[in-house]
Amino acid sequence: MSNADKGLSVVDLTVAYNGVPAVRGISLEVPAGQAIGLIGPNGAGKSSTLLSIMGAIPRGGTVLVDGVDVAGLPPEKVVRKGVSLVPEGRHVFADLTVMDNLRLGAVGRRDKSGYAEALENVLTMFPILSEFSARQAGLLSGGQQQQLAIGRSLMADPDVLMLDEPSLGLSPTAVDTVFEALDVIRGLGKAVLVVEQRAEFTIAFCNRTYVLHDGEITLTLKPEDANNVDVLTQAYFG
Ligand SMILES: Nc1ncnc2c1ncn2[C@@H]1O[C@H](COP(=O)(O)OP(=O)(O)O)[C@@H](O)[C@H]1O
Ligand SMILES: [Mg+2]
Repeated sequence: MSNADKGLSVVDLTVAYNGVPAVRGISLEVPAGQAIGLIGPNGAGKSSTLLSIMGAIPRGGTVLVDGVDVAGLPPEKVVRKGVSLVPEGRHVFADLTVMDNLRLGAVGRRDKSGYAEALENVLTMFPILSEFSARQAGLLSGGQQQQLAIGRSLMADPDVLMLDEPSLGLSPTAVDTVFEALDVIRGLGKAVLVVEQRAEFTIAFCNRTYVLHDGEITLTLKPEDANNVDVLTQAYFG
């Protein structure tokens, strides 16, 4: 496979709940080594997009992971094809230790032998997880839990990392920590798809950002558009 095929490719994705459309035929390209943003107001269909790519809810259209069609696969098999989701609200296992949360993330690994190295890389990326490795995850701050959720996803050794509103409820410092990590992760050659509501910040950070309104992509923005008031207004208000 050529490098150009690596990453996530979504064609004509549709999602409906009880016949009511939530995602109306969107196409996305998330190349290896890039972070791609998906922004839009509440109810636009952002979470539905991520959940349907994971195989957690039914969809129409095509999802290619590193050029491979993952049609019909349940989430645990999509993980084994190289996709990992950091869900909205983080969902760490509060009663388990930080280390046990990371161990559980490794369940989806394709290459079991790389476990020790993956753990070392995660603990280097997020030193706080090393310091608090024996602590119950529920005792961590929101920002620390987000680092744990991302670290846990990385333990599955994904080629494609998707995050649903990773900055939600975090302090500005914690948001910086998270996005610095995402910058490192795209530098490692992974394809990163990040859903956010904070338009300006996301547009500036991502290589490209799609704007989703009522289940449709209305704009595709470049980092320099973060300073363009007209473009931002359109992104917010459709
Ligand atoms: N489980 C569900 N059952 C019925 N409707 C849903 C469900 N989840 C989401 N929706 C609807 O689908 C639309 C898109 O929701 P969602 O994907 O959560 O948007 P976003 O993440 O952009 O806020 C909304 O109208 C929402 O009410
Ligand atoms: Mg959502």
